[in-house]
Amino acid sequence: MLVQTLKLALGLLSLPTTYAVPEFTNHGTASGGWRDVKPEKQGTKSQVANVVYRGDSALKVTQTFVPGYEGRYHSEYVVNKGYKRGEVKFYGFAFRLSDSWEFDPPQSFNIAQWIADFGDTNCDDWSPTSMVYLRGRTLYSRVKTGQLLPGKPCPPANNKGDCSGGKNCQKSREFALKNDIDGGVWYRLTFQITWKSDATGQFKTWINGTKVHEETNIPTTLLDDNREFSFRVGLYANGWHDDNHQMKGTQGFRQVWIDEIGVGSEFKDADPDRL
Ligand SMILES: *[C@@H]1O[C@H](CO)[C@@H](O)[C@H](O)[C@H]1NC(C)=O
Repeated sequence: MLVQTLKLALGLLSLPTTYAVPEFTNHGTASGGWRDVKPEKQGTKSQVANVVYRGDSALKVTQTFVPGYEGRYHSEYVVNKGYKRGEVKFYGFAFRLSDSWEFDPPQSFNIAQWIADFGDTNCDDWSPTSMVYLRGRTLYSRVKTGQLLPGKPCPPANNKGDCSGGKNCQKSREFALKNDIDGGVWYRLTFQITWKSDATGQFKTWINGTKVHEETNIPTTLLDDNREFSFRVGLYANGWHDDNHQMKGTQGFRQVWIDEIGVGSEFKDADPDRL
């Protein structure tokens, strides 16, 4: 009886209700929790040991421009549980562009995004809300607002942001995070996002431990049916698709390294230095 009571007491002691468990942690390994998604076209995804932020390995992603190809250029690692509307989460990873990265002329290269399949709304298919992307030497993110619900009318094709009459609609607003990104250097990124479609959301970003963005009392996501968005890191050379299937400049082979990826309920779950 005494032993049982003791065990019970110790059991309770070892399970404080406030203890937070990181949802996802990856130290730069190709196995370990990712959804199996193949890179598109000539893209590659691999685990490497020669260029790392911390530890023994990092993830390397590449994409190659193909003249005449009109598809997309994703080489991404995918965390299934990114968010559902209403959640508050921290996300972090370290990234490094190749030391010979061509910044000029500017074109968009995306390195992280939150995305879900809205094919059942008949208004869109895969639709990203926030993205993290480089244009020139500036790193940007964005928030997307509006609505994507099954059974609602779609907006006119030439005006996706027309929400009138209860229509499904999408509006993006971008903001710069840092304007002097270099190649061959690692950057630590951490995001804290309160995902709300009304004006109670928050969006905060830290780069190398310095807060570079903070907005509160804003909508940060679409009004949807609370479906699961995935969180993706890697390289999506979206400019090569979106800019009329053309590459700007001369660097048709792009390389990005990603390491120390984390998602959770606390800052330390998403700080590449503390994972
Ligand atoms: C960011 O932090 C990493 C690791 O501490 C460091 O190597 C890198 O130079 C830093 N980047 C900048 C722009 O300060």
